[in-house]
Amino acid sequence: MTDIAMAYDRSETDEMGIKLTADEMGVGLQYLPFYKVSLGFGNDGFTYRSPGQNYASALKGVRVVLNRTQSKNRRLFASAIFEALDKAVLNPLSVEISCQSKIRTLLAFFNSGIKIPKTVYVPCNVQEGRADGGVLDNSGVISKLIAQELGSGKVVTKPDAGTHGRNVRLADGPEALLGMLRDISSSIINPSGVVAQEFIPKWFYDLRIVVEKEKGRPGFCFPTALARAGFKDFRTNTFLGNMVFRARLPPAVQKEAVRCGDALGGGARAWVIALDAMPYIGDDRVADEGELRSHFDALEGPFSEVKKVKRYPLKKRNFEEYTGMINEAYGRYMSTEAYANIQAAIEVSLERKRDSVVFHEGNACPEFWEQTRIVGGVNVAESLLRCAQSLLDN
Ligand SMILES: Nc1ncnc2c1ncn2[C@@H]1O[C@H](COP(=O)(O)OP(=O)(O)OP(=O)(O)O)[C@@H](O)[C@H]1O
Ligand SMILES: [Mg+2]
Repeated sequence: MTDIAMAYDRSETDEMGIKLTADEMGVGLQYLPFYKVSLGFGNDGFTYRSPGQNYASALKGVRVVLNRTQSKNRRLFASAIFEALDKAVLNPLSVEISCQSKIRTLLAFFNSGIKIPKTVYVPCNVQEGRADGGVLDNSGVISKLIAQELGSGKVVTKPDAGTHGRNVRLADGPEALLGMLRDISSSIINPSGVVAQEFIPKWFYDLRIVVEKEKGRPGFCFPTALARAGFKDFRTNTFLGNMVFRARLPPAVQKEAVRCGDALGGGARAWVIALDAMPYIGDDRVADEGELRSHFDALEGPFSEVKKVKRYPLKKRNFEEYTGMINEAYGRYMSTEAYANIQAAIEVSLERKRDSVVFHEGNACPEFWEQTRIVGGVNVAESLLRCAQSLLDN
């Protein structure tokens, strides 16, 4: 019997990395499936079963659940159910709720006086069903409402609960905005209305910053972060194939990141959150862009070697071997001169813009085993296990 369990629907490299790290740290970890199972509750008690196995008694001894289920909605259900059964959950339901919605996250930051991109929420849907069966197109009024707040220049729209940069789009001017609005419909990731945001001129990179809080201790920000960078698209997130760099965070940024964690943590005893942030750089650029672009070109080769290793078909079966291979591939990529040049430009500009970093998102279940751990220098598995252990202390 162990006190800490990890609930998951799919075991990806992150979950395998948590198991490996738990072994290395000597933390006993139990596994709870959260997909093809039933969770039953009625006045006669609670049941938790797969077609062939009963998990209810295993769950009895568990005091802390690491929630690593993948979809935001499934994670909300998992946290709600385990908390109802008196388990401490990492992250707790309150954090999942704040992080599920970009609007709720931004409101939490806004209330704490944290710098954020100006954001506009228009509750009305672009296509509105009419009683007579027809459809009313609200794009004109929505675009006016957005321009009234954000001006008629560049505007970003995004689904409130989206991930991986999907449907995050940039319009340059009212015509483009109108066209973009017509493609927005309500869905599970965009439940209602339209979210628009000031375009942040972040030059060529944004940041993924990890903050954690152990029970009984103040929040903590890791001093290095993952910078995601490229000139190909205004979206610099890694899912779209952008390159990654380690960035030392100026103390002012670390401090602000802890305030973001506290804002999303809302008084919870422990949490681990990966924040998305962007420096407001504008024209204040510390390096020649042409030279930077040529460094990116020079990095294509080493980066494609990394991507090749990531496609290793037996990575789950031979996980430790894969981990060695990916560590080495990133190691080679990070030891190139082109990497060092881009990293230097990021760190110098970040130091210069340390008071102009805007925060816009919290991720309650971040991917980390490859980029964040190796390049960012933060093994989120250690954070999760450390914070889970802190919840066992009386
Ligand atoms: N207001 C903005 N101004 C400039 N760039 C932005 C803005 N909002 C988002 N971006 C860019 O688009 C990328 C994706 O945006 P965002 O993080 O909001 O989407 P997401 O779907 O949550 O992606 P992920 O799951 O990878 O975090 C960011 O990494 C950033 O590079
Ligand atoms: Mg994001």
